[in-house]
Amino acid sequence: MSRTIIISNRLPTKVQRTAKGLTFQPSEGGLATGLGSIYQSGDNVWVGWPGLFVEDPAEEQHVTEQLQQDSMAPVFLTEAEIRDFYEGFSNSTLWPTFHYFSQYATYEQAHWEAYVAVNEKFCQAVLALAGPDDTIWVHDYQLLLLPEMLRRARPECTIGFFLHIPFPSYEMIRVLPWGAELLQGMLGADLIGFHTYSYMRHFLSAVSQMLGYSSQNGQIETPSRTVLVDAFPMGIDYQRYADAAASEAAQAHARTYGAAMHGARVVLSIDRLDYTKGISLRLRAFEELLHRYPKWHEQVSLLMIVVPSRDQVAQYAALKEEIDELAGRINAQYSTISWTPIHYFYRSLPFEELAALYRLADVALVTPVRDGMNLVAKEFVASKADQRGVLILSERAGAAQELSDALLINPTDTNQLVEAMHEALLMPEEEQVLRMTHMQTLVQQYNVFAWTELFLNRLTYSKIKQLTLSTD
Ligand code: G6P
Repeated sequence: MSRTIIISNRLPTKVQRTAKGLTFQPSEGGLATGLGSIYQSGDNVWVGWPGLFVEDPAEEQHVTEQLQQDSMAPVFLTEAEIRDFYEGFSNSTLWPTFHYFSQYATYEQAHWEAYVAVNEKFCQAVLALAGPDDTIWVHDYQLLLLPEMLRRARPECTIGFFLHIPFPSYEMIRVLPWGAELLQGMLGADLIGFHTYSYMRHFLSAVSQMLGYSSQNGQIETPSRTVLVDAFPMGIDYQRYADAAASEAAQAHARTYGAAMHGARVVLSIDRLDYTKGISLRLRAFEELLHRYPKWHEQVSLLMIVVPSRDQVAQYAALKEEIDELAGRINAQYSTISWTPIHYFYRSLPFEELAALYRLADVALVTPVRDGMNLVAKEFVASKADQRGVLILSERAGAAQELSDALLINPTDTNQLVEAMHEALLMPEEEQVLRMTHMQTLVQQYNVFAWTELFLNRLTYSKIKQLTLSTD
């Protein structure tokens, strides 16, 4: 029987070293939820990095056995690989380039070589498991070369690839010394998926200009094969958020938080620490709101959760300093004995507390300068059982293509952001309900399970089509 093999840089379980030994924490992430029922059924398996550096062979054996019981196969990375492949090429070259931050990108031959070597390492791990008829689904920018590596070894395999971050304009890709190789790597797949049509168009244009392969209706003709390309906007587990926010526990948490904030209205901001998220622009806009509209003093607080991320990469460490400084400065200027303008948490929160915050928030401020999709926007929408609450959303997040009932803003336009917050805080309830109801219908329908099914069905179809074409 053929099996489905999922591959992503990170496994859906995070292994951590604590004082009490190793802990195995299932990830709350959208991908883990969406693919949970797939990789855990039958002989299917998820291949990826367990998220920590393991030196001791006995410990490696222990981690492997533990993960195997849960249908996962770990790929261990050495310290040098974490530095050059993960922090280096993935997060200091590809991540900034694909998010239009080329001024932050580094171009190191050693990082590229580590990227090739680690993609090869993943390839060997998959080949050890995959039979000729298996379906292989590769995820995200850390593994752009893997589809082609697998294709060479297993020409008959069904291979899908999904990119979770933006695919930028050809003008950004052409800056990369290894742009053509990266495109060739992706083209090893039978089906390539993006969150939006514009990412897909950028990809087709880069393939045409850099490799000379033409396409029609999302079908690329390479010298050896046809590759399908399409947009599949990723969703969330809607019901899980709706249920959690409506739960007794979330209501109790929300009451406690509400009381602690002395009834101030809540503007919520939740992100991984990342320069793509526009966190400092958002803080400056909140400062300007307090300056321009003193009526909100003591009436509104910004509740800002920043989840630590990639802190070994220089830009991230610098951003943390900047945010700390900004939040401190604004609080020092505006706080009163009974009111704190910004409640700032630098940590991740348990799911129930997150649900309570979504429930409590009057406004969600989701203002990335670039974001492949942004699931926080969808989680907020799913959590609003009474349809009250306003989403302010960056037009440069993939989610803006679907959530046109949000207040859409340009995140670099501070003035627009200030006015959007002001408008959101004054928005009549009927309008809030109308906008939220529209968005809920959409987020509920195109949830993460529909996304998975759509992609996998299309992948099967693309393979059937290829086989038909090759026998014609
Ligand atoms: C983004 C990427 C994912 C990545 C996640 C967390 O969502 O698309 O591939 O796993 O960020 O980043 P990290 O570097 O911690 O894996």
